[in-house]
Amino acid sequence: MWLNRACIGFAPPVAKRCRQVKPWGQFTAPTAIAAIVRIVEILRIVMSKMALFFGTQTGNTETIAGLIQQQLGGSAVVPLYDVADASPSDFADYDCLIIGCPTWNIGELQADWEGLYDDLDDVDFSGKKVAYFGVGDQVGYADNFQDAMGILEEKIAALGGQTVGYWPVEGYDFTDSKALRNGKFVGLALDEDNQSELTASRIETWATQLKSAFGL
Ligand SMILES: Cc1cc2nc3c(=O)[nH]c(=O)nc-3n(C[C@H](O)[C@H](O)[C@H](O)COP(=O)(O)O)c2cc1C
Repeated sequence: MWLNRACIGFAPPVAKRCRQVKPWGQFTAPTAIAAIVRIVEILRIVMSKMALFFGTQTGNTETIAGLIQQQLGGSAVVPLYDVADASPSDFADYDCLIIGCPTWNIGELQADWEGLYDDLDDVDFSGKKVAYFGVGDQVGYADNFQDAMGILEEKIAALGGQTVGYWPVEGYDFTDSKALRNGKFVGLALDEDNQSELTASRIETWATQLKSAFGL
């Protein structure tokens, strides 16, 4: 009936053809609902813009950034920024941030993050959800394991970023870390020097956790 009404105003042959071609006739209620759910999912991903910023000295953190990107849906969903080439204004475009930093030189930030550290004061992190991952060596640097992740989280949280993606300390053997908050790591702790065999499964579990924290 409504189709007939929609065709009013067309010349009779056109109106007839219009009534014969009913592409929407093949849509049942369940398929229409499934399509709507999928569209809402895609809109949510596109609208809640997400990016991953990493720094690296010898490549481990970059490799891991790529693995996390894959788990979260690929480059169309999560662009990667090497902070060696990034500027503070790049952070402004995103609602959900993933920050990756290895610890270097006994408890210090990786060099490119070090270079950006003071300029982070110019970024408004309020309203942004921020997840962290760190790469370190719990055997060689047991007193400073993952310190860089903790240093960045402390700064960005003070600038308004909402930390998500905490990670349990079970399964690690270290003495001290600046990345601890209430008995958990502030983010995903990875150790390519001693536990590289656990990296893939840790990333998979954390990515699932992140999807929920980011509302994806
Ligand atoms: C000189 C040196 C100092 C390091 N200092 C620390 C440290 O204090 N804490 C830690 O957890 N890892 C430390 N590491 C381990 C690195 O973070 C680890 O090798 C990491 O995988 C390097 O990541 P990248 O390849 O992305 O730079 C250090 C490694 C080196 C060679």
